[in-house]
Amino acid sequence: MATPTLSPDAHVNHITSLPLRNRVAIVTGASRGIGRAIALHLASMGANLIINYVSNSAQAQHLADQINSSSPQPRAVPVQADVSDSVQVKSLFDRAEQSFPTHRVDILVNSAGIADPDHSTIAQTTPEEFDRIFAINARGAFLVAREAANRVTRGGGGRIILLTSSLVASLKTNAGPYAASKAAVEAMAKILAKEMKGTLVTVNCVAPGPIETDMLIEGRSEGDLEGMVKECPHNRLGQTEDVAPLVGFLASDESEWVNGQVVRVNGGYV
Ligand SMILES: NC(=O)c1ccc[n+]([C@@H]2O[C@H](COP(=O)([O-])OP(=O)(O)OC[C@H]3O[C@@H](n4cnc5c(N)ncnc54)[C@H](OP(=O)(O)O)[C@@H]3O)[C@@H](O)[C@H]2O)c1
Repeated sequence: MATPTLSPDAHVNHITSLPLRNRVAIVTGASRGIGRAIALHLASMGANLIINYVSNSAQAQHLADQINSSSPQPRAVPVQADVSDSVQVKSLFDRAEQSFPTHRVDILVNSAGIADPDHSTIAQTTPEEFDRIFAINARGAFLVAREAANRVTRGGGGRIILLTSSLVASLKTNAGPYAASKAAVEAMAKILAKEMKGTLVTVNCVAPGPIETDMLIEGRSEGDLEGMVKECPHNRLGQTEDVAPLVGFLASDESEWVNGQVVRVNGGYV
């Protein structure tokens, strides 16, 4: 009979040492928003970090400097790569392996993503905007998860975590292509979890509700945001720090039995 890889002593070890010490994590879309908070959280758990971004090099470098300032040797490296480009995704993983040569990539968190800033209905959305959203959210998640499936650590500790959205469940108007792109990712993640059979690599989605970031605020009025607050049982918008600890748990050894799941983190609105 197969036994869990998590030993009964693991909780003691967890207390006495950093749970992700020496692990290597790539966080895409880590220059801002939820990805940034996730990178900081994984760093606080001891991980070495690849801070991915597509255009905001200054913010990515600033985050790397912040993490590195509290460490005797560099633990965070900013790397530019467009997740919708297969060559750039491959080079993102190459850079991770070159930056931390003593360890394979253990953890992949895909937080890179875009939404329609005009919040159009499906009838108003142009085919070009649909393609843009799917290229980054669905194709990007596919390319990053595909590379991770071939390259993350096998035999324990390998983790693939993809950011999706509670909109897949709440099905609100004015976000049709975006919700559809995230639904595609959730389907892919559940299948990939099964395809990774025998590797002990887990694949999960984290699906936030409204989180106060650039993405949420862009193109929305105060009234729109107040409406979201009213809908939430906790009477507030989510913050990036509401999401990061869940990702930290899914990245850790303790989460091994959580596999092929979509975990919603939204204060209870859906
Ligand atoms: N905020 C919410 O309410 C919410 C709710 C549910 C799900 N989500 C999901 O959570 C994730 C993070 O969202 P967020 O609110 O933190 O967004 P955000 O504040 O707009 O940040 C987006 C991040 O993605 C990066 N990015 C965009 N396009 C990219 C590309 N082609 N290649 C690589 N990186 C790219 C950006 O890099 P640059 O800085 O270089 O542009 C930035 O780091 C997304 O997948 C989003 O769909 C967000």
